[in-house]
Amino acid sequence: MTKRVAIIGAGPSGLAQLRAFQSAFEGADPVELVCFEKQSDWGGQWNYTWRTGLDANGEPVHSSMYRYLWSNGPKECLEFADYSFEEHFGKPIASYPPRAVLWDYIKGRVEKSGVREYIRFNCPVRHVEYRENDGTFMVTVHDHERDVVESEVFDHVVVASGHFSTPNVPEFEGFEAFNGRILHAHDFRDALEFQGKNLLLVGSSYSAEDIGSQCYKYGARSITTSYRTRPMGFDWPENWEEKPLLQRVDGNTAYFADGTSKQVDAIILCTGYLHHFPFLPDALRLQTNNRLWPLGLFRGVVWEANPGLFYLGMQDQWYTFNMFDAQAWYVRDIILGRIALPDRETMQADSQAWREREEALEDDEQMIRFQGDYVASLIDATDYPSFDIEGVNRTFLEWEQHKHTDIMTFRDKSYSSLMTGTQAPAHHTRWLDAMDDSLEAFLDAPARRPAATPRRPAADRSRRVEPTTPAIGQALSFQAPGFRRPGVARPRWRTASKRLMPVATETLRLETLPAMGSLTSWSQASRVRRRMPLPSAPITSAVGPVRSTSKISDSASPAVPVTQTPSDLSLARARERLVT
Ligand SMILES: Cc1cc2nc3c(=O)[nH]c(=O)nc-3n(C[C@H](O)[C@H](O)[C@H](O)COP(=O)(O)OP(=O)(O)OC[C@H]3O[C@@H](n4cnc5c(N)ncnc54)[C@H](O)[C@@H]3O)c2cc1C
Ligand SMILES: NC(=O)c1ccc[n+]([C@@H]2O[C@H](COP(=O)([O-])OP(=O)(O)OC[C@H]3O[C@@H](n4cnc5c(N)ncnc54)[C@H](OP(=O)(O)O)[C@@H]3O)[C@@H](O)[C@H]2O)c1
Repeated sequence: MTKRVAIIGAGPSGLAQLRAFQSAFEGADPVELVCFEKQSDWGGQWNYTWRTGLDANGEPVHSSMYRYLWSNGPKECLEFADYSFEEHFGKPIASYPPRAVLWDYIKGRVEKSGVREYIRFNCPVRHVEYRENDGTFMVTVHDHERDVVESEVFDHVVVASGHFSTPNVPEFEGFEAFNGRILHAHDFRDALEFQGKNLLLVGSSYSAEDIGSQCYKYGARSITTSYRTRPMGFDWPENWEEKPLLQRVDGNTAYFADGTSKQVDAIILCTGYLHHFPFLPDALRLQTNNRLWPLGLFRGVVWEANPGLFYLGMQDQWYTFNMFDAQAWYVRDIILGRIALPDRETMQADSQAWREREEALEDDEQMIRFQGDYVASLIDATDYPSFDIEGVNRTFLEWEQHKHTDIMTFRDKSYSSLMTGTQAPAHHTRWLDAMDDSLEAFLDAPARRPAATPRRPAADRSRRVEPTTPAIGQALSFQAPGFRRPGVARPRWRTASKRLMPVATETLRLETLPAMGSLTSWSQASRVRRRMPLPSAPITSAVGPVRSTSKISDSASPAVPVTQTPSDLSLARARERLVT
C-alpha cells in the first residue's frame, strides 16, 4: 500500500523534503505526500510580510525577517548541492544576497521540480495524534480557504515548522512605564522607523548584530547593545557601544549591570526564539533550547521515542539549506526503507555521543566543524550529491575573520562556490551604501538601472520609493529551464554514484533578458559537477571526525571596488553627519 507522508511547513526544510522525494520518484510515486503550510505562500522565514502579530487568517505571523535583510553568511555556505546559484540566476552573483534574492533561489529549485502541487496553503496543523492501534498518525488541520477543520491519517509525519518564529520575550523592571516603543526582533520590520533615535538592543547574537547594523545603516542616532553572557566584541562604529545586561529602565533611562545608564528612545529585544510546537502532544514534542545537538533526535532528525515522526532543521544553524537537504534525503531514505534504523537504545547512545562532543566544543571553529561533520555523515548515507564540506567550513572561518576585521564591510567580500568552483563577483555597491534591497537592484549593475529608481533624498528619507525595474530574478525563475508549464516537459533528476546526472536537456532563450543570453541548464549542471572536487577522505564513523581533503581555490576576494549612486552617497553622508 502507498505510504502517506505529512510534512508540516513549506519553508526551506519542508521544501527540501519535497525535493528529496521528488528526486527519488521515477515514474510511479512510491509515497503520497501532503505538505501543510500555514502561510499563503512557500519559503518559510524568507517569505517576508509587513504584518506583525496575526496574519490574514488570524494565525501568528511566522516570518521574523525584515526589510533590508541581507544574508548574514556567504551564500556559498548554504548553496544547494543539486542546484547552484549560477544555474538559477544564469550568471555568478555576489556572495551576500538580500532576502528577496535568496527567496527567489529557494523557489527556483522547487518550481523546477514541480512539487507545489503537494502543498496545501493556508492550512495550519492544529494537532497530531499517534494511534497505537495501527501505528499511524492522525493530523488535524484548519483549512482556511474552505474554513473547515478536518483530520487525515498518515504513516509518517515530518515536522519542518522552523524554530525562529515564537519570540522569547524577557521582561525588565520598568518596562511597563517606558516612554517609547519596546518590541521583539520578531516584530522588527523597517530600520527607517528608528532613524535619528537612540536605540537599545538586548541580546548579543545575530539578531542584535544585524538589526543594530541595519539601524546604523539607515540612520539611527546611537546603538547600545546589552549582553547577558558576553559582548559581541566587534569593532563597532563610533555611535555604537556594548553594555552588560540591562537591569531596569526608569522613564527613558536604561540602567546596566556595570552601574552605567543611558537615555534611549526605543528597545528591541533580540533575545532569541522558543522551539514551539503547539500542535504536538508531549509524547511527540521536541523540548530543547537553541543548540547544535538537541537530544531525542537520532541523527538529528528521527524522533527516538516514535521513529515514525521526524524533525528537520531543529538545530542551531551554521549550515542551513544544504544541511536541511542532507536531513531531508536521510529521512526520505528511512521512509523508503533504504536506511534501516537501529533499536531505541542504540539510537540514544549515538545521540548521546554527539551531545557529549557538542558539550566539549569551545569555539566557533569547533562548532562549525562539528556541524560540518554532522552534515557529511548524513550525506554519506544517501545519494545527495557530495560537496566539499571542509571547503564550506573554511569559508565560514574566513567569514568570521572578515567580520572581526570590519563588521561593517564583511558583506563586501566574495568567495568561491563549493559546488561549481566559480568565484563570486564583487557586488557593484558596498553593502553599507546599498540602500535598495530589491532583487532587481542586487542583480542589475547601477549603470543599467533606470534613472527612475532614485533613493530617498537626505531631506526626505521618510518616504519610500518602490523599485520600478522589471523583476529580473522572477523572470529568470519562471523561465528557467524545466519550469513546469503546459507544453514544456518537466526534466527529471536522477542521481547515480552521488553525482547529479541530467536526464533531459533543454535550452530556453530568456527573451526578456537578452544580456544574459541562453541557459543550457542540465548540461551546464553536469559540466559543472564534473569540475567539482569530490571529498577524497572516507567518512569514518557517525560520530568521529569527518574531513575532506579536496582542494579548492583561494576563495576570498580583495576589497570590492566601490560604485555608488549619487542618492546612495547622500544617504551615506547623512548617516556620517548623524554620527559626528
Ligand atoms: C531574522 C532571521 C534571519 C535569518 N537569516 C538567515 C540567513 O541570512 N542565512 C541563513 O542561511 N539562514 C538564515 N536564517 C535562518 C532561517 O531560519 C533558515 O534559513 C530557514 O528559513 C529555516 O527553514 P525551516 O524550513 O526549517 O523553517 P522556516 O523557514 O521557519 O519555515 C517553517 C515553515 O513552517 C510553517 N509552519 C509553522 N507552523 C506551522 C503549522 N502549525 N502548520 C503548517 N505550517 C506551519 C511556517 O509558516 C513556515 O513556512 C534566518 C532566520 C531569521 C529568523
Ligand atoms: N540574515 C541575518 O542577517 C540575520 C539576522 C538576524 C537573525 N538571523 C538568524 O536568526 C537566528 C536567530 O538569531 P537570534 O540572535 O535571534 O537568536 P539566538 O542566536 O538564539 O540568540 C539569542 C540571544 O538572546 C540572548 N538572550 C536570551 N534570553 C535573554 C535574556 N533573558 N536576557 C538577555 N539576553 C537574553 C542570548 O544571550 P546568551 O548569549 O546569554 O544566551 C543571545 O545573545 C539565527 O539563526 C541567525 O542566524 C539572521
